[in-house]
Amino acid sequence: MSVVTPEIDVLAVARLSPLLAPQLAAAYTVHDRLHETDPAAYKSVAPRIRGIAASGESKVSAGLIAQLPALEIISVMGVGYDGIDVAAAKARGIQVTHTPNVLNDDVADLAIGLMLCAARQLPAADRYVRAGEWAAKGPMPLARKMSGARLGLVGMGRIGQAIATRAAAFGMTIAYTARSAKAELPYRHFPTAAALAAESDFLVVITPGGAGTRKLIDAEVLAALGPQGILINVARGSVVDEVALIDALESGVIAGAGLDVFENEPHVPARLLALPQVVLVPHIGSATGQTRQAMADLAAANLAAHFAGQPLLSPVPEMRA
Ligand code: 8YV
Repeated sequence: MSVVTPEIDVLAVARLSPLLAPQLAAAYTVHDRLHETDPAAYKSVAPRIRGIAASGESKVSAGLIAQLPALEIISVMGVGYDGIDVAAAKARGIQVTHTPNVLNDDVADLAIGLMLCAARQLPAADRYVRAGEWAAKGPMPLARKMSGARLGLVGMGRIGQAIATRAAAFGMTIAYTARSAKAELPYRHFPTAAALAAESDFLVVITPGGAGTRKLIDAEVLAALGPQGILINVARGSVVDEVALIDALESGVIAGAGLDVFENEPHVPARLLALPQVVLVPHIGSATGQTRQAMADLAAANLAAHFAGQPLLSPVPEMRA
């Protein structure tokens, strides 16, 4: 007697990583953003969709979930899942998984890289040499020292702790703000981002996005960081009030910034592009071949485990609660 494996339909709501797409195509019938590209075909397929494959930036609204009566699992290739309506999924018993831990090193490495770039003005120094200004004008203006400075971390989860470990090797003083103090950590806890900023030279944002942290870094926090302060954001653009940040940079309320994420990616405001003391990178926190492979494998493994009736490898915390 032959075993018939039922065909499983999966909706990809983002352009899938080339490290993930072939794995899913080998196991499922994948409908690549059909809900956006072909409403008629989507309408006929929607009742059969049992899985969603998403990226960290994807939006999966309650409305989309409601269109998919057979949906069982949403697998996010990313640690952040602030675009997923987890409450709506949970209400229907739909699982949500993400890819934590495997990207901690890369995001922490990038945070340190942005701190060094912003403090030592490395991109500007590179431009200086290429433009022939070294020969024409002589040395660049002096930059500022990072080693030994005060680091404030907004968020002290797994990635925040990986940044702290690296910063300790730079002899930095480390403090943080988080919803609750973590007694097991040897770092000072501040109750608010503004109180932390007032005691920081570098303020690094590494807290989840979503409604609870929207515009947490506002004009008041930036004023507290002060004219020598540098803001780094490797979390989500939504956590920083971008207009307030640009105002603060233009008027010298803070000294500089290093940004991996933006409010309206991939669009970056022209006013930000015009500021030479700001280092801008295109959401590359986890973008190494090694880490993206690990994320793709974990996202695929969560789907496979679910459809095989096995325990999920990395459900989001709300699913475990
Ligand atoms: C990626 C991210 O941008 O993990 C996250 O939350 O923001 C990222 O690593 C992306 O989701 C990779 O698919």
